Amino acid sequence: MKGLVLCGGAGTRLRPITHTMAKQLVPVANKPILFYGLEALKDAGIEDVGIVVGDTKEEIIHVVGDGSRWGLDVTYIEQEKPLGLAHAVLVSKGYLSDDEFVMYLGDNLIKDGIKSCVEQFERNHPNSQILLAHVKNPEQFGVAEIDGNKVVRLVEKPRIPPSDLALVGVYIFDRNILEAAKSIEPSWRGELEITDAIQWLIDNNFKVDSHVIDGWWKDTGRLEDMLEANRIMLESLEPCVKGSIDDRSMVIGRVVIEEGAEVVNSTIRGPAIIGERTKVVNSFIGPFTSIYYEVEVSNSEIEHSIILEKSKIVDIPVRIEDSLIGQNVEVTRAKQKPFSYKFMLGDNSGVVIV
Ligand code: TTP
Repeated sequence: MKGLVLCGGAGTRLRPITHTMAKQLVPVANKPILFYGLEALKDAGIEDVGIVVGDTKEEIIHVVGDGSRWGLDVTYIEQEKPLGLAHAVLVSKGYLSDDEFVMYLGDNLIKDGIKSCVEQFERNHPNSQILLAHVKNPEQFGVAEIDGNKVVRLVEKPRIPPSDLALVGVYIFDRNILEAAKSIEPSWRGELEITDAIQWLIDNNFKVDSHVIDGWWKDTGRLEDMLEANRIMLESLEPCVKGSIDDRSMVIGRVVIEEGAEVVNSTIRGPAIIGERTKVVNSFIGPFTSIYYEVEVSNSEIEHSIILEKSKIVDIPVRIEDSLIGQNVEVTRAKQKPFSYKFMLGDNSGVVIV
């Protein structure tokens, strides 16, 4: 069985971060989201993995390489435009050949992995098997109507949901999905939808099974989802200190201080992770915060946030919360009058001031 990881897409809901980077590479608990997916595939016994890439192709290739770090053999497949998940399957036709494959959305996190899902498929060999999870708000998801194990209908964001079972971003297919993807028309948003292709399989009497997961999962397409994913992953970190903490600092709870990091006269209250060669001076790092590598935080307080590499947060008098701060960003305080707000923000940025 092969893996097909989707890392194309436009990422409009995560702008401005996605103007300059692939959302699949945003670190959650200081590890790019995509890596969790690659690990899940390897753990399920899949080694032959195709990665569908779009505009951020170079960056993904640079970071993932040939996949040997995970024991994977990675092939890159270009999708010229993000024309939908079923379109991503079509452009992968040559790579997939006639093999069965797991399609994994590169911005999704499934905490307990996909091993049992793959095992179920290998036992029963349906034409397709979709991963489902119980949700409280099914009207906001693609929802499946099932009969026992069998999927009988899929509905996108239904007003009256037929169940509380939402589609999670992992699907297993045999070669018939290619015919399905070829047979459907683009939706109102101009995309070839995977739900339409699966519905085509159902309508044409192919066997589509379901696998319901109990564990936590997240589609990290929006900022609040990314922060939640970060929160959940930090909660299961193994505490570990590789960097230095001076005598005047306090480290409380589940905290990782990575190699070369320095904590000086500061309090770190876990769960939190401080990245390699990052410096935290005279500051407070509160729960659910991930600070990536080579960041400088001084005379500031940060909580429930993700700070990407090489950024500087200096002398900020108000606690920063619920934030995602990109690479090489500087947030500082005016050193002389006028003490006004001064911004240089990229397109689609968001700022809330007190
Ligand atoms: P989505 O989050 O559904 O789409 P998107 O990435 O375009 O984001 P937004 O809606 O905010 O604009 O995509 C799910 C995953 O599939 C994600 O990792 C990107 C990938 N993808 C492709 O590889 N090709 C595509 O044509 C699309 C639509 C998504």
